[in-house]
Amino acid sequence: MAARGNFSNRLGFILAAAGSAVGLGNIWKFPFEVEAGGGAVFVVLYLIFCFALCFPVMVTEVAIGRKTEKNPAGAFVALGFPKWKYLGILGIVSGIIILSFYNVVAGWAFGYFLEMAQGNFDIGNNFGSYITNIWQIGLYAVLFMGATAFIVSKGIAGGIEKAAKILMPTLIVMILGILAYSFTLPNAMIGIEYYLVPEFSEINLRVIGGALRQAFFSLSLGMGALITYGSYLSKNENIVSSAASITLFDVGIAFFAGLMLFPLVAYSTGGDMSNIQGGAGLIFVTLPGVFESLGPVLGIVLGAFFFLLLSFAALTSTVSLLEVPVAYIVDEFKVKRNKAVIIMALIIFTAGLPSLVGNGYSEFFTKFIHYIGAEEPTDFMTFLGHLADISLLLGGCLIVTFAAYVWKKENLHEELEQGNEGYSSSWLKTFINITVSYVCPVLLALLFVLVVLNNFF
Ligand code: PFF
Repeated sequence: MAARGNFSNRLGFILAAAGSAVGLGNIWKFPFEVEAGGGAVFVVLYLIFCFALCFPVMVTEVAIGRKTEKNPAGAFVALGFPKWKYLGILGIVSGIIILSFYNVVAGWAFGYFLEMAQGNFDIGNNFGSYITNIWQIGLYAVLFMGATAFIVSKGIAGGIEKAAKILMPTLIVMILGILAYSFTLPNAMIGIEYYLVPEFSEINLRVIGGALRQAFFSLSLGMGALITYGSYLSKNENIVSSAASITLFDVGIAFFAGLMLFPLVAYSTGGDMSNIQGGAGLIFVTLPGVFESLGPVLGIVLGAFFFLLLSFAALTSTVSLLEVPVAYIVDEFKVKRNKAVIIMALIIFTAGLPSLVGNGYSEFFTKFIHYIGAEEPTDFMTFLGHLADISLLLGGCLIVTFAAYVWKKENLHEELEQGNEGYSSSWLKTFINITVSYVCPVLLALLFVLVVLNNFF
């Protein structure tokens, strides 16, 4: 087993897993989902889902990984249920799909860092042409995949953990720094209010489904990323408290990212929150103008800082996304890590090309699919995002169902007791018991149907 590698300690595991969780999902996607979901109501639902539904799924994934010391497909076989390996394979395929488009957006963010550093604030007004300049953004995507592959090729402690230990603390300092500054801007309070004061009349099924999708994506659940990371965790570590730290970390960063961003947005719109540029462009279109208004020096420093931060956050996530298929081929086909990394990085980069050209450059991929009843066609990247969302929910639902009724919850609890002496008599055991056996399977199945209907019809 030594050859597979291990995290050196609990902190290393927590930072790497939190690094996987904290990414574009928190800083790029969360704010525009909040905007689309009607503001603070979405935030409240998201918090409830993270702790009540996602945390038990995370605990289960890590337990399955640590018990078997295997990739998501091999784990089910090792537990004695070979047919369930297809659930693991579904997760691996989802990871490949997510990384294929995630890497493109990460490339945009990295490109924005370079533009900001040169003081090109106009880029926000030219976002549309920026993302159709496929040679330039293609180069950034190559660089990003290259950096990801480099870290993954260095293995667990020497690559993934080391990168997370440097990048995650830097990220926190950067967010807090920009946040403190954003609070001093005119109209900051209007942005904060929009973000934090819920209007419960805004709750509807679409908002509920959206908050759950976001919680799953943000916590990297349902595709075995945490089975994989769990497989490198020592038996002496406490899974339940580690998972709680990871959840808190991720939720905390998403929360602070919103708190940092909405004052900036309110400042840029002069306090008119009814008229903000939503969707994928929220950060890319709005922020350069905000940074520009801070004057050339501060604008360049903060602007470059912000997009560097976004790139760092994305990097610890792309690393985990690549690690999942790499662990699979290393474990199952006995391919050397370096070779596995190169093969998977090339395949996934190629799979990302339609997403790269599908934002205006190629008409076919830009107007890729027309959902029933929709006014406009949906582009390829957004379509993949929808596919991934439903696959993560389905995966999460099936993983907990498997643990409770196939593997059996006594076995799950036995794994959770290792490294956690007080577990058997704690309220957390009762909480995990009830959520994993009843609450998660039932609610996730219902919400899965809801999200499929919402997304595609
Ligand atoms: N959690 C990441 C984010 O919020 O950006 C995205 C992600 C990473 C999803 C890894 C799934 C995963 F396995």
